[in-house]
Amino acid sequence: MVKEVHIPDGVQANRIDMEYFESNPKPANLDAHSTLARTFIEHHAEQNRRVALVTSGGTTVPLENQTVRFIDNFSAGTRGATSAEYFLESGYAVIFLHRQYSLLPYSRHYSHSTNCFLDYMTFNDAGMVVVNTEYQHQMADVLAKYNKARKENTLLLLSFTTVNEYLWYLRELAMLMQPLGAKSLFYLAAAVSDFFVPAERMVEHKIQSSEEFHIRQPNGATGQPPAAHMEGKQLLIDLDPVPKFLKMLVDRWAPQSMIISFKLETDPSILAEKARSALKKYSHHLVIGNLLNTRKWEVVFVSADGGEKWLRVPAGRRTKSVTGLLPDTPSTEESREPAVEIESWIVPEIETLHTEWIGHGDQR
Ligand code: PMT
Repeated sequence: MVKEVHIPDGVQANRIDMEYFESNPKPANLDAHSTLARTFIEHHAEQNRRVALVTSGGTTVPLENQTVRFIDNFSAGTRGATSAEYFLESGYAVIFLHRQYSLLPYSRHYSHSTNCFLDYMTFNDAGMVVVNTEYQHQMADVLAKYNKARKENTLLLLSFTTVNEYLWYLRELAMLMQPLGAKSLFYLAAAVSDFFVPAERMVEHKIQSSEEFHIRQPNGATGQPPAAHMEGKQLLIDLDPVPKFLKMLVDRWAPQSMIISFKLETDPSILAEKARSALKKYSHHLVIGNLLNTRKWEVVFVSADGGEKWLRVPAGRRTKSVTGLLPDTPSTEESREPAVEIESWIVPEIETLHTEWIGHGDQR
């Protein structure tokens, strides 16, 4: 007779944690990231400053070890990069764990835009390159904030690409931040893959589409079937679930930190319910729900006490003082921008919640 054994949640999480990190390789940059982060955290702990870990951008899932093809998760990095600026304005030191080449705080005003950055430049009478007059004011504002962050050493940029790198870095950073206690905050805006190819089922070389080159590539020591392979003309992909890292973060890696996650949905009718369900499952502090098409205009805060609060910014053309660098001629894209950056509302709300949390202790 087989007896069913109940494994408590904590033990289960511990086992998943061990298994995942034992069987998926440590990123080459882990030690370098860790050294930078340790110095940064120690410096700000001495200054008695709050530290926010802001995650941003989407993780990838490589299909081959020498990666030619990969699956990506949607996120430009706008939420994370914009929020990071407002956390800095609120006096936090920020570790910005972002997808490589996604938007960055401050440079976001000039990169990835419809303008080429050279459009912001012009020649003066002496033939020197200078900032175009119409952008001077806005660029001075951004530059002053950027210089302040540099001078005070309050912004640390660390990048990831794959979901595996993301998980390793998140765990490492969380453990380094433990001495900060309640002064540490996790703001998880990154879009993290739910499914992946575990190392033991990853093929080494580029998957061949042409039938004459089909080979079942040998698959590590385990002999497990490859997660992605050709059958006839079809590419078959069979992904494993990514372990629910939020559980591990809350229970084990950062038990004393304030943890805020985002929930992205496309169907408005399930957003609040999904956010409530995530809170119930992971027992962290706050879930911020957003919809793909309206994420710049509205978000919903769902908190552990069952509260639900919508933040909605007015639609309309953003003013120059908010965006910095919009061209004078309005375009369709421009008119679709919100009147203010919603992160300028989100972050102060979070700062207030964090202050209460530091004052009153864990309300979870
Ligand atoms: O960068 P932008 O273009 O501005 O877009 C911003 C955004 C829409 C990506 C951002 O606001 C956002 O919603 N980020 C979270 C997207 C997401 O991953 O949602 P999800 O529903 O798949 O996951 C919800 C939470 O579960 C995540 O915060 C994550 O912490 C957690 N999770 C996810 C996967 C996993 N294996 N384990 C987890 O614990």
